[in-house]
Amino acid sequence: MSDSAIRKEHEPPKGNLVNLKTLWEFVRPYRLQLVLASFFLLIAAGTVLVIPTALGDIVDAMFSADSTGNLDQYIFLFVAVVCAMALSTALRFYFITWLGERVVADIRKAVYERLITLSPEFFEENRPSEIVSRLTADTTLVQTIVGSSVSVWARNILIALFGTAWLFIMSPKLMTYIALIIPPLLFAIIFIGRKVRDLSRSSQDKVADVGIRANESPSALNIVQAFTQESYESQRFSSDVDGAFDVAKRRIKVRAFLTFIIIFTVFSGIAMVLFNGAQNVTAGTMTGGEMLDFIMRSIFVAGSFAALSEVYSELQRAAGAAGRLAELLVAESKIKAPLNPVAMPEAVKGNINFKNVTFHYPSKQDIAALNGFDLQIKPGETVALVGPSGAGKSTVLQLLLRFYDPQSGSVTIDGINLSTADPCDLRSHIAFVPQDTIIFADSILENIRYGRKGASDADVHAAAEAAAATDFILKAPQGFDTQLGERGTGLSGGQRQRLAIARAILRDAPVLLLDEATSALDAESELKVQEALEHLMEGRTTLVIAHRLATVKKADRIIVLDDGKIIAEGTHEELIAKGGLYKRLADLQFGEAA
Ligand SMILES: Nc1ncnc2c1ncn2[C@@H]1O[C@H](COP(=O)(O)OP(=O)(O)OP(=O)(O)O)[C@@H](O)[C@H]1O
Ligand SMILES: [Mg+2]
Repeated sequence: MSDSAIRKEHEPPKGNLVNLKTLWEFVRPYRLQLVLASFFLLIAAGTVLVIPTALGDIVDAMFSADSTGNLDQYIFLFVAVVCAMALSTALRFYFITWLGERVVADIRKAVYERLITLSPEFFEENRPSEIVSRLTADTTLVQTIVGSSVSVWARNILIALFGTAWLFIMSPKLMTYIALIIPPLLFAIIFIGRKVRDLSRSSQDKVADVGIRANESPSALNIVQAFTQESYESQRFSSDVDGAFDVAKRRIKVRAFLTFIIIFTVFSGIAMVLFNGAQNVTAGTMTGGEMLDFIMRSIFVAGSFAALSEVYSELQRAAGAAGRLAELLVAESKIKAPLNPVAMPEAVKGNINFKNVTFHYPSKQDIAALNGFDLQIKPGETVALVGPSGAGKSTVLQLLLRFYDPQSGSVTIDGINLSTADPCDLRSHIAFVPQDTIIFADSILENIRYGRKGASDADVHAAAEAAAATDFILKAPQGFDTQLGERGTGLSGGQRQRLAIARAILRDAPVLLLDEATSALDAESELKVQEALEHLMEGRTTLVIAHRLATVKKADRIIVLDDGKIIAEGTHEELIAKGGLYKRLADLQFGEAA
């Protein structure tokens, strides 16, 4: 399945059997626990069925004139049954819940392992928030299947079936009264239950929408408040919440109706049984204990039927969740290593070649981000990409990192077509400073070490020094060990950028890609970082996107990009002399009147 084929939550999953098969894959390693759980489940269900008889016997023993000695025995038997029931129920709970937690932990790991390898395209087609909800909400639902629903379901099926048979053997006549109420009960459970299920699915979707909204606004809080849109946001949120409530209201109504039908039919049935049973007892064809036994057992059986309906809808919901997880588990990245990937040379020289590359972003098929793009970069050369916003500069870097494959043309490094290489192999030879700095909620030290996981603390410190970051790091409360907030809160834009540069410096790769790496720096730190970068660029092939003259001027060659095409190239002086777009950009952006 391609990663674009993930269905949206609203569509029902295909075959539930397929979903269950996926689940089974995860349960299989824990067969022992499953067997133990099933064993205790059988015992627990059996004891529930035996308890009415044990009680009935006690009652009969109490009212029989002759032997009071029997009563002790019956009481002892009753206690033994109760003891077995308590113990087996507790053990069943332990093993089943253990299984549920274990399986869900394994599923979460498997889904995450899969997600982390998918190409960016996947997250453009599937909202990341939806994916996160699959990882959390859907796995929790699956946990309810494995960790409880299935066992509750199995227990109730056993009690319902065997209990019904037992009742029938005890008194076929009384049982026919019970048989009368079963059809309307089943009808209600199946048809109304289905309605409840549909409503609860859409109610879940609504709640998910609320969650997405709630997630979005606080993270954009300063924008909300700066533009004084608090009341607008509140209104939007409250209408989402009310929407969720409206759907929930319909579900509750139908569910209430179902509850009425079930309770009413069940107890009408019991009333009929009581009426006839009482006649039997008076006639002497049945003892009081037997009647108590029969009624108790039929209440247990009826309770099991009712529970089945509840668990059934839960199972359905969880099967849907399992289906969505199964889809994620088979999602394939469009960008992956071919069967026999061509290995990149040990020492990549950095000979980069774009040949007639045309590329459209998958979510923007109609506009080409790069159009017949040709570019050769010699090993060790520094090339600057300039051009207006949206010209396709960042796209060039995205293709070099092979986040996407071009629709036509080829991108090669040292003669190796990137689409024939293993992306991990390729990327290990590239250091990248992205346009939007990504900082993880971790210490400063680890954030820099992200560039090369095996690097020593001394190497990290050296990289920070080279990126002119040591000053502000040492001023932070715990220096290098300072924990950063999510997305780097607590740092300024320029500080974040310097960490990203330190990360790239630490990577020590032959190909260096800088996407406006110094855009957020003040003049003084830029000067320092610039020196560090120049030092870094020596002997490496560098592609640098810059809005600042200082960076651009230092490049061996400047490429002017507009609308996905190269419209001019040369040195700064040559391009200024030519006039045109570059000169205009130079005048405006670089602030240098030529
Ligand atoms: N992930 C994406 N999905 C769809 N379209 C995209 C995506 N990223 C960029 N584009 C589009 O591709 C074109 C080129 O974008 P690119 O990011 O390469 O521009 P840029 O030259 O880096 O601009 P800037 O200077 O603003 O960073 C733009 O029209 C942009 O809207
Ligand atoms: Mg860009």
